[in-house]
Amino acid sequence: MIKESMVAADHKTAGCDDKTQQMLQQIKTVTIIGSGTMGNGICHVFAQHGFQVHLMDIKQEALDKALKTIGKNMDRQISKNALSEAEKADSLARIKTYTDMAEAVHDVDLVVEAATENIDLKVKIFQELDKLAPAKCILASNTSSISLTRIASHTSRPTQVIGMHFMNPVPVMKLVEIINGYATDDKVTEVIVNLSKFLGKVPCVVQDYPGFISNRILLPMINEAILALQEGVAGVEEIDTIMRLGMAHPMGPLQLADFIGLDTCYSIMNVLHMGFGNQKYAPATLLANMVQAGYLGVKSGEGFYKYTPGSKDMEVSKRFKR
Ligand SMILES: NC(=O)c1ccc[n+]([C@@H]2O[C@H](COP(=O)([O-])OP(=O)(O)OC[C@H]3O[C@@H](n4cnc5c(N)ncnc54)[C@H](O)[C@@H]3O)[C@@H](O)[C@H]2O)c1
Repeated sequence: MIKESMVAADHKTAGCDDKTQQMLQQIKTVTIIGSGTMGNGICHVFAQHGFQVHLMDIKQEALDKALKTIGKNMDRQISKNALSEAEKADSLARIKTYTDMAEAVHDVDLVVEAATENIDLKVKIFQELDKLAPAKCILASNTSSISLTRIASHTSRPTQVIGMHFMNPVPVMKLVEIINGYATDDKVTEVIVNLSKFLGKVPCVVQDYPGFISNRILLPMINEAILALQEGVAGVEEIDTIMRLGMAHPMGPLQLADFIGLDTCYSIMNVLHMGFGNQKYAPATLLANMVQAGYLGVKSGEGFYKYTPGSKDMEVSKRFKR
């Protein structure tokens, strides 16, 4: 069981100065905004490491689904002896759910925003967070590509706004890409770096340019795979098999796109396209069409593959069968 005393002791991360240590000690309650694919994973990891977590979404059904997913993912950890039943119960007891932002961020120390990847939405959320969250609170975003500098410029605390980009699935993936906005205070970066280590992750700090590092490199590869499919160069299975077996990628780019969510992939490509003003980042028409038609990948049940709810089974979508 992760007891409060253990959490406090573990908060003492080696190599940080007293001021950072003090700031880190002050993070006890964390609000996660958005309880979708990423929000539930981020909530899982914070709760498992002893933090009180306020999980907020505009949709009650998204919150209910998130709690179920967290429970199921913890069961998987139990089956691998990575978690005990008691730790699962304690972790779940630390999570409270909210549909009202004012209640969700009242008296919290850190917010990690993981709502839908849309610049106008994120700006609106950060303006509200700035009004409602305590002045000391750090405001982090899990955005995959949107400028932290731009988000921060809509708040009165740009020095306390930072990117905390977890990878999917959050409980499994080790990396946290930390993005400094133009005005982010070094001390805030240090706190988030040490906090990420405390969560068992490996932080990498990067600067605020479109797509940062991870998606500036990953998404053009996925988009190229979609363009190759669109041109009929090869089928879904061939493209994914070539990249898995030929390049030793654990998952092919089309399956990965389904896993990330095609709407999220499309938004990121648009951010790269607009941010760099270079045609090489233009999203594939097939990607745009699939998003318009609601074929978003795993979360909608079908994208390049068709998924059976509650099972790991998948087959190439009928549309792409050759
Ligand atoms: N999916 C990935 O693999 C991945 C990986 C890293 C980062 N991200 C980033 O994480 C963020 C979330 O992505 P996701 O894949 O979890 O999306 P998602 O569509 O699965 O979930 C988004 C959630 O946000 C909620 N939401 C929308 N507006 C809201 C508001 N005003 N207040 C509170 N909640 C609101 C929605 O109801 C939904 O439940 C995005 O910024 C995305 O770029 C995604």
